Amino acid sequence: MKNDAFYVTTPIYYVNDKPHIGHAYTTMLADMLARAHRLLGHDTWFLTGTDEHGQKVQEAATKRGIPAQQHVDEVVVRFQELWERLEITHDDFIRTTEPRHTRGVQEILQDLFDRDEIYQAEYDGLYDVRSETFITEKDLPEGCSLDSLPDWVKPIRETNYFFRMSKYQDWLIQYIEDNPGFIQPDFRRNETLGFLRKPLADLCISRPKARLSWGIELPFDPDYVTYVWFDALVNYISGVGYRHNDEQFARRWPCQVHLIGKDILTTHTVYWPTMLKAMGVDQPQCIFAHGWWLSGRDKMSKSTGNVVNPLDYAERFGVDALRYFLMAEMSLGQDASFTEEVFVKRYNSDLANDLGNLTSRVLKMVHTHCDAAVPVPSEAARTEPSAAALWSVVTDAVNGMETHIAAMRPDLGLHAVMTAVREANKYIGTRAPWKQAKEEDKQPLQDTLYVALEVLRVCAALLFPVMPGKMKALRHQIGAGEGDPQVNQLREFGVLEPGTPLLEGEGLFPRAQIEKIKEDPPPKAAKPEAAKLKAEKAENVVEISEITFDDFGKLALRTATVVAAEKVEGADKLLKLQLDVGGEPRQIVAGIAQHYAPETVVGKTIVIVANLKPAVIRGVQSNGMLLAASKGKNLVLVTTDAKIDSGARVG
Ligand code: MSP
Repeated sequence: MKNDAFYVTTPIYYVNDKPHIGHAYTTMLADMLARAHRLLGHDTWFLTGTDEHGQKVQEAATKRGIPAQQHVDEVVVRFQELWERLEITHDDFIRTTEPRHTRGVQEILQDLFDRDEIYQAEYDGLYDVRSETFITEKDLPEGCSLDSLPDWVKPIRETNYFFRMSKYQDWLIQYIEDNPGFIQPDFRRNETLGFLRKPLADLCISRPKARLSWGIELPFDPDYVTYVWFDALVNYISGVGYRHNDEQFARRWPCQVHLIGKDILTTHTVYWPTMLKAMGVDQPQCIFAHGWWLSGRDKMSKSTGNVVNPLDYAERFGVDALRYFLMAEMSLGQDASFTEEVFVKRYNSDLANDLGNLTSRVLKMVHTHCDAAVPVPSEAARTEPSAAALWSVVTDAVNGMETHIAAMRPDLGLHAVMTAVREANKYIGTRAPWKQAKEEDKQPLQDTLYVALEVLRVCAALLFPVMPGKMKALRHQIGAGEGDPQVNQLREFGVLEPGTPLLEGEGLFPRAQIEKIKEDPPPKAAKPEAAKLKAEKAENVVEISEITFDDFGKLALRTATVVAAEKVEGADKLLKLQLDVGGEPRQIVAGIAQHYAPETVVGKTIVIVANLKPAVIRGVQSNGMLLAASKGKNLVLVTTDAKIDSGARVG
């Protein structure tokens, strides 16, 4: 691999889903990184694609009465068209039904089978027919047991093929510990290490064709197809020529970053590395899991109808504004909230007010007072104290963008750019070029406007990977030329050529109004009887009301081991805890920071309410609540009397 290589991937999306904001987000993030690396002159490769096999696709095709291949050929277009609309510049789009992929998967399977990395065994256990997955007793819903299974869970005895994943457990733990950048952010790395504290099972990789035929046939047993992950994950290498184009593979692999959502962490940080290890292929440099976009505080889901359609926003505010919002609003790793209010607020403040105003004020004055051409600066444009101070903030933005992008915090990079834009607005305010225009000596006016144009040149370059369309237009309007920005000139002052004509253009970011893309349904009026009953109840309130055993049974109390803890930024009372609950990683936010330092809770076995509705507290996702006893100013955690596994039932 060359030093300047940059290969970035997105997950390949289930082709049956309608593309939503989550898909658009990861793809735009990858696009922004790819564009930034291309500007830096790096040998960049950006791969995205679609995951086209499986039960749901098979069912959808059967329902339509057409072959599965025809179905996927038709629906994949939704993704391809959306990426075009959102100005995504992927270098390749891989579909798991393409021969280059299916052939790659089969060769890998055969090789692993020949080397006894894959074996056949009988599976005797439970099967969830709704999610088409094998489950264990602990996955059963409350109140169910092996003797009383819900109707969607079937006992199953089936012969299948297994990958010897378990034998790589120790190696994987060591690898993750030796390579701190391998899984990012750090708390996701801890989550994977927490998961690996329990014995790792072998991975079932097949389904009998009798049950699922729409998959890749096992080369050593035509009665089976390979199942989901052993198919999908391979795209990252089959898409860059693994075993078929050695030159391409050597040039691209190992990949610099696999971008994924937090829900597919285990598959990417446990299954994929062990698969690669068994194949004898190098590991990717980094697997980066981002958080989820929530609708307000709630999870987006088809059933609640609160899923954001990226096209709605792209149509209304423009693709670039949508791209800017997504990059600026999410602190990578954490969840973020997408609402029309938040969108319009950020759009108006950053784009319409700060950047839009700066641009329109400066351009208007250059058109009016400098014959619509880049003015001729004097030496004072560089040395005058307020100009020099502004230029140092601009240089901070260049440095900030560079370091924050490398640390996967585009939001902070954009913040640094907006700080420079605001400083430039202040500079214009104090230099008052409209007053300078009335003076006889026009040099100070020319200096002010030249400085402002130079700031816009640098900001347009820094924002170029995020808002390619608008920044191209801005570059035109300030006389910076047709081509891509030259990033090696960002710390240099005096790049714009005096006398270059400025091109006319439209205002970049007109102010927006909130108009609710979809109206929320009006709250249902309470029935009069219900209101009466509520009032009666309120009059009879007792201090501790009684509950039934059934009420209590609704609480899923579980033991949990604290794997990692840290303070929540900007909140004195909150700790963010990473827990292991019976092998499942979980994050909760708890108001205990004034009673426990983060390091003192790590390793404790605590008790949590595991089925509390998830909430976002100070921008951090909390999936559950811990139990603590408190009296007056005293607060202590509820822990167990003796050692017991995490995930144990409490009650
Ligand atoms: N096909 C698998 C991935 C295989 S990769 C080898 C898959 N597909 S998916 O279409 O269901 O999801 C793709 C990605 O979208 C996941 O990374 C998931 O985290 C992300 N998102 C789904 N909903 C999301 C949000 N609401 N917000 C952000 N991303 C979310 O899983």
